[in-house]
Amino acid sequence: MPIDPKLAAALNNHVSLEARSAFSYFSMASWAQVRGLTGMAAWFRKEAEGEMAHMRQFVDHLNDRGHQATFTALPEPRSTWESAIDVFDDVVKLETELCEQIDRLIEVSHDQRDHFTGSFLQSFVPQQIADMAEADEIRDRLRIVGTDGQGVILIDQELRAMAGR
Ligand SMILES: [Fe+2]
Ligand SMILES: [Fe+2]
Repeated sequence: MPIDPKLAAALNNHVSLEARSAFSYFSMASWAQVRGLTGMAAWFRKEAEGEMAHMRQFVDHLNDRGHQATFTALPEPRSTWESAIDVFDDVVKLETELCEQIDRLIEVSHDQRDHFTGSFLQSFVPQQIADMAEADEIRDRLRIVGTDGQGVILIDQELRAMAGR
């Protein structure tokens, strides 16, 4: 059962957004790594791999439903930030954008009465909500410790544990 062309184009657009998000996380991981924030780097790296996995799921859904997924050039991700709080401001923005786009895609799938795509998209919702809440919580904790080095190191250790590596 092929996907409606308008919905397919919107889904293919999301392939780029997931890839762009992965690039951003890889860039954040490098930023953290060279600053001794190795736990944070591991957390970013894990997120990057998660976005790559999401991208692959969208590609598979398109291909499996008779629409060949295509790829675009990606913009260069940001690589300089003032502080870890500054980086996490971007993380919150990035995850919010992903959430909003999935929400819009669900709306389009409903309009097109494409329930298979609707249920495919719904499977991303719980994880997306958890990702957004987690990013927000880490940013809040970074704000609490501010420039206190010991506090930042503690959060870095927590992030390493969260990344499980
Ligand atoms: Fe994602
Ligand atoms: Fe994510």
